[in-house]
Amino acid sequence: MKTKLFFLATTMAVLLSSCLKDNEKTVRHNYSPEHYKVIQAHLNLPVEVDNYSLQLPQTVGGFQVFADNKQATLGRVLFYDKRLSVNKEVNCASCHIAEKAFTDGEQFSPGVTTERTSRNTLALGTFPSFNAYYGFGGTRMFWDNRVASVMEQSAETMKNPVEMGNTDLGKVADELLKEEYYEILFEAAFPNQNYLTNEEKMLTALQSFVSSIGCFNSKYDQELIRSNDHKEAPFTNFTAEENRGKEIYNTNCASCHNLGAVAFSTGIVAANNGLELSYSDEGIGEISHNPSEMGVFKVPMLRNVELTAPYMHDGRFATLEQVVEHYSSGVKNHENLHENLKKSFDEAKNLNLNENDKQALVAFLKTLTDKGSLMASRYADPFK
Ligand code: HEC
Ligand code: HEC
Repeated sequence: MKTKLFFLATTMAVLLSSCLKDNEKTVRHNYSPEHYKVIQAHLNLPVEVDNYSLQLPQTVGGFQVFADNKQATLGRVLFYDKRLSVNKEVNCASCHIAEKAFTDGEQFSPGVTTERTSRNTLALGTFPSFNAYYGFGGTRMFWDNRVASVMEQSAETMKNPVEMGNTDLGKVADELLKEEYYEILFEAAFPNQNYLTNEEKMLTALQSFVSSIGCFNSKYDQELIRSNDHKEAPFTNFTAEENRGKEIYNTNCASCHNLGAVAFSTGIVAANNGLELSYSDEGIGEISHNPSEMGVFKVPMLRNVELTAPYMHDGRFATLEQVVEHYSSGVKNHENLHENLKKSFDEAKNLNLNENDKQALVAFLKTLTDKGSLMASRYADPFK
């Protein structure tokens, strides 16, 4: 219960720009020279904590997404610490690599055993703001949308026998705190907050870090801003092929894979996209046992999609060309196939694109890449 309440408090930290003033007044505390020396012996962290807050352009919402910089800094260290796993060989970044938009290029991922995960690793760097997409509540995480927060997700992942294999997260946190630099980082992130357990602090910090990830400086975003959000008209700095791809995307894909405002209005968060007539992994239906949710999965966000291969919940497609071929000729008329992918009541809609149009759609998807934002030093491995 306490965990839930605390999550709410964190999500409320997504502030509208009208609150900017309060935020500016916040005093920044730096580490004392002695403390910074201890940190520096082990970690590449700046003297003044990095700024993890984001100011979103109007084209993706226009508001400020507030982050607690000291919690996010601690979360960054934890994200890259292999001591979060039972054999001390796996960290979050084993499966979530920044330059791949926080995926790992594997169909299924190895963790602490010889087994692999049963689903494809979800990207963390495909949102204009991770927090703005998930932080308001309502939108849930994992391919089957089974958890509501990064705290819950991290706890599940750390306990998952294949992924990180721990049973007692309190013990993990207590162990870390024997390290002097962790003592300093935890105290800076949660000053005098003794009502929280070390486990809660650890999970909250991971949440602050993951929530701070955001990318909105792709070629597409730049053109969206330049055009004053006129996404239908051809973009000045797009090639003819990219503009053709954009047209196809806006007509056939954008209804589910929203590229605009990041919160509230996103609409379709889960759907069946006709990969099979009958699924071995039923997605949301696997949990709910609701017939109308069989074969229904999260609709993934597509910024940086060029970097997140292979694709779909089971990583079945190695390339974007294969994904496009699916929507062009492979959509199956599953009983829960979403209406946006239907031609009529009982017929799947295949786009039957010609070769040029298929290439154009792939070219457009590549304009969504924003590697620069992913490579920001505040997201990088801090360990020396
Ligand atoms: C062994 C690989 C592996 C490790 C280690 C791992 N993850 Fe993941 N992560 C995955 C997979 C696979 C999924 C999708 C699982 C599913 O949907 O059932 C996922 C999903 C997620 C999601 C959900 C994203 C969304 O949009 O729904 C978040 C957030 C996340 N991981 C963060 C983390 C954090 C934080 C850590 C470290 C505490 C971590 N992961 C460690 C493989 C891993
Ligand atoms: C009805 C909603 C819907 C429409 C319309 C739609 N998709 Fe999807 N898309 C989904 C869902 C749901 C998934 C995940 C399905 C799964 O893994 O089982 C998905 C997955 C994807 C993925 C894989 C992303 C990843 O990270 O693995 C790509 C790429 C993609 N779609 C591109 C497109 C393109 C291009 C179009 C237009 C031609 C399109 N989609 C139209 C719902 C939709």
